[in-house]
Amino acid sequence: MARILIAGCGDIGATLGQRLCAAGHEVWGLKRRPADLPPGIQPLAADLTDPATLNTLPPALDGVVYSAAAAGFSESHYQAAYVAGVQNLLDALRQAGQQPRRLLFTSSTSVYAQHQGEWVDEDSPAEADSFSGRCIRTGEQLLWDSPWPAVAVRFGGIYGPGRTRLIESVRAGTATRPAGPPLYTNRIHRDDCARVLEHLLLLPESAPLYLAVDDDPAPLDEVLSWLAAQLGVPEPPLATDLPLKPGAGAGDPALRMRASKRCRNARLRATGFQFRYPSYRDGYAVEITKGGFRSAPLPYPSFRR
Ligand SMILES: NC(=O)c1ccc[n+]([C@@H]2O[C@H](COP(=O)([O-])OP(=O)(O)OC[C@H]3O[C@@H](n4cnc5c(N)ncnc54)[C@H](OP(=O)(O)O)[C@@H]3O)[C@@H](O)[C@H]2O)c1
Repeated sequence: MARILIAGCGDIGATLGQRLCAAGHEVWGLKRRPADLPPGIQPLAADLTDPATLNTLPPALDGVVYSAAAAGFSESHYQAAYVAGVQNLLDALRQAGQQPRRLLFTSSTSVYAQHQGEWVDEDSPAEADSFSGRCIRTGEQLLWDSPWPAVAVRFGGIYGPGRTRLIESVRAGTATRPAGPPLYTNRIHRDDCARVLEHLLLLPESAPLYLAVDDDPAPLDEVLSWLAAQLGVPEPPLATDLPLKPGAGAGDPALRMRASKRCRNARLRATGFQFRYPSYRDGYAVEITKGGFRSAPLPYPSFRR
């Protein structure tokens, strides 16, 4: 049985925490307002940006997962979540004389600036051209420079329960398909995120870096057309304007999505990890059914007269 701290225990952290508790591990969930943590995860009220609140960490931790998210899409929010918060937690672990066997960091594929559909893996340059990617990249480095074995896990776009923006925009008819060369997007289902973290936390030997995306980096227009077919709504129209980046204000052309890359998950696969949702089709099919999003029954043409 391991003693695990999840710092920034939100959606991904709590999903991971529940899995670890079910497997018999002792789990603490650190966040500012821990009242909403699911049963089993021991609540720890603390603010990662306030070192004075981090002096009561549980002793003798075996593993630490850093999974805090920025409270908004601004440089100061990203600095607080991915740089100051990480540094404060590492300082607190050091001051308490902790010797965790492994640290994990929920990173992001936004650390890559590649945007022409190239294949990207753990050896590709990660020279983010946005403040968000740069802050996350700094957070990774802080962990790697710490005295403990550290693993950064670069997740693609996370979808799943409560993360149905794309489904809703297709159903509402507000989505548009980008015209021009394919705009490759990379995804992972929320449950697979938690499963990847659990897998890497308990793996006997780990590399310092993994890309965590499903097997299917797909052009955005293909994903949108597939969703429309599943939902029984018209295919979103083609538009020459690129879609907005998450968090960008409407109408700001500088914040339109230019990223297009194909992330390779071979290193993660080589550890024996098996996806529950290897493609967006598998994961979205479940979310569409569970969320009752389908507005019309799928047609069965051969039986209709
Ligand atoms: N969304 C994506 O597509 C995507 C892609 C790649 C990577 N990621 C990364 O995945 C990670 C987990 O995401 P998530 O969806 O689980 O986020 P989430 O549900 O928003 O959870 C983050 C948690 O961090 C806590 N937190 C934030 N600031 C804190 C602070 N100063 N001190 C203590 N706790 C703090 C929040 O709880 P309190 O407010 O109670 O403190 C919140 O519950 C994040 O690092 C995110 O950047 C996300």
